[in-house]
Amino acid sequence: MRLPWTPASAGVTTEAVVSAGGKRDRLHRPRDAGGTPAVRVRPFVVAIDGPAAAGKGTLARRLAARFRLAHLDSGRLYRATALLVLGEGGDPADPDAAVAAARQVSPAVFGDPLLASEAVARASSILSALPAVRAELLAMQRDFAAHPPVLADGGMPRGAVIDGRDIGTVVCPDAAVKLFVTASPAARAERRAKELREGGAAAIYEDVLQDMKERDARDSGRRVAPLAAAPDAVTIDTTGLDADQAFEQASDIIARALAADGR
Ligand code: CDP
Repeated sequence: MRLPWTPASAGVTTEAVVSAGGKRDRLHRPRDAGGTPAVRVRPFVVAIDGPAAAGKGTLARRLAARFRLAHLDSGRLYRATALLVLGEGGDPADPDAAVAAARQVSPAVFGDPLLASEAVARASSILSALPAVRAELLAMQRDFAAHPPVLADGGMPRGAVIDGRDIGTVVCPDAAVKLFVTASPAARAERRAKELREGGAAAIYEDVLQDMKERDARDSGRRVAPLAAAPDAVTIDTTGLDADQAFEQASDIIARALAADGR
């Protein structure tokens, strides 16, 4: 398996899907009875799932910076796959074309502004229902969680935060913290339309809402790894919250989990 990022052990990071912030930190090591550093502990993993435009991405980036976690936006992997298929004039519902594209996912594609388009979002939701595509991208995501890349400032990450649809249920069922971030369809469509307009696209609220509802239905209804809250996930409904309030709620949950874990 070829990874589109480099684990921290190799000392290099890939910027496009990986974000982190803050200052240099030490490796987190458990202390033995004498207070000396022992072996390195498992990375602390935060899984964030939820429907389109619920605020997962912004939240995950900010949590990554506060808690020194490497960040993976798993949606980028599916969007990058979709962009490659569409670029070849292929059909996102064709398993051969979609799997071939998933194998080529690389940082060169992560930075493409077209990833944000609604056409790519729609195509990614179609190909993400194909079990062979999910299998192809699963190993990469698990590897990111097990071996998070170094942070943008060169520091060692304490762990990883991954956002997507099936992170708490399938990709990282043992994550230390699982959040399910959601909001009303109207609030989400408004946010997405604003985002698209800020990116220079001509977005009509009704069209965005319609596209989003179709995508949510497809993501929730697929047989393999549907969009769902893990039974042990904490739900944060951001309908009436601004980004800061959602961030504070999530930060409290993570700080408590870190303390409970003795970190
Ligand atoms: O940003 P937004 O929430 O609109 O979407 P995204 O996270 O970029 O994901 C795009 C599409 O990829 C979703 O609609 C899903 O179909 C698919 N996806 C998935 O199936 N599993 C994931 N873990 C992440 C994304």
